[in-house]
Amino acid sequence: MGGRRPRVFGIQPWFHYPVQERTAACRSMITRSLQQQSQRKRRSRQKTARRKVVNRIVERDLIHRVSYDQYRDEVRKVYGGARGAMLARFSQLSGHLQLGDRLLRKRRFDLTGAQQILDVGSGAGQILGHLLKYADPDARITAVDISHAMLRRARSRLKSDRPELITADLTRLPFDSQAFDCVTCGYVLEHLPNARTGLAELARVMKPNARMLLFTTEDSFGGAWTSRVWACRTYNRREIVKLCHELGLMLVQELWFSRMHKLLRAGGICIELRKHPPRHSNRHAASVEPVRVDSAV
Ligand SMILES: C[S@@+](CC[C@H](N)C(=O)[O-])C[C@H]1O[C@@H](n2cnc3c(N)ncnc32)[C@H](O)[C@@H]1O
Repeated sequence: MGGRRPRVFGIQPWFHYPVQERTAACRSMITRSLQQQSQRKRRSRQKTARRKVVNRIVERDLIHRVSYDQYRDEVRKVYGGARGAMLARFSQLSGHLQLGDRLLRKRRFDLTGAQQILDVGSGAGQILGHLLKYADPDARITAVDISHAMLRRARSRLKSDRPELITADLTRLPFDSQAFDCVTCGYVLEHLPNARTGLAELARVMKPNARMLLFTTEDSFGGAWTSRVWACRTYNRREIVKLCHELGLMLVQELWFSRMHKLLRAGGICIELRKHPPRHSNRHAASVEPVRVDSAV
């Protein structure tokens, strides 16, 4: 075709081709691009599946194999023993303490105005230490942990009698509903077989509009190793946010300790949540009721 038609730099211009040829060329281009797209998707799905298999092999599945009571005993043993004793030093070495400190010092999670603060799963007092430093001087700080030994360590490490320390389980918090306007919960949720159980209880004790700083282990390769060391489980970021949403805890922001954290997902899921304001609280009242562990296992 087109011998008679003018050429631009020796190339036959596109619009000189007959309509049928142009249509066929477009169709084949679209088909090729769709095929490439589906190939890319298939490859990424295969990669994700491979990663999931590796993570599942590395992850410890104790939490799913035994009853919650048996698992809780194991958690108490882990944190009450040598591993728990090492935790405070380990946090220093891993940079976890310094990075958490920066998050609160720079007010990326702002404690200003919070009067009733609850820290759940305080461990050796890592987050508690930041709360003592950056919360308003008249704020009342309460700390809860399932392990009495860990709370004793927190007390001696922080050398402060300001926080009230209570030995209790996240799934059965000994507080009235809507008692706190700020909650922090660092790396505890992964010690529950069912995140809903813990999140619902946290939502129950939060006042409407109260904010929560939540850290938990992610289903990444690093998370799988954390699970092995601390006998915990991991969570999917999107699923946790969706679950929080169902319980009336809205995502305010995703937080990152550092650029490295964002790149490698090494510090797990770090999010700020806000409890629904009163307008919606009735609608969520049923789901915010504490879910007892026995019924969740
Ligand atoms: C990894 S430490 C977290 C310490 C600190 N919050 C931080 O961010 O570094 C986890 C703590 O959660 C506590 N814990 C585990 N399961 C719990 C539960 N069901 N209720 C309350 N505390 C729990 C453990 O005893 C341990 O001290």
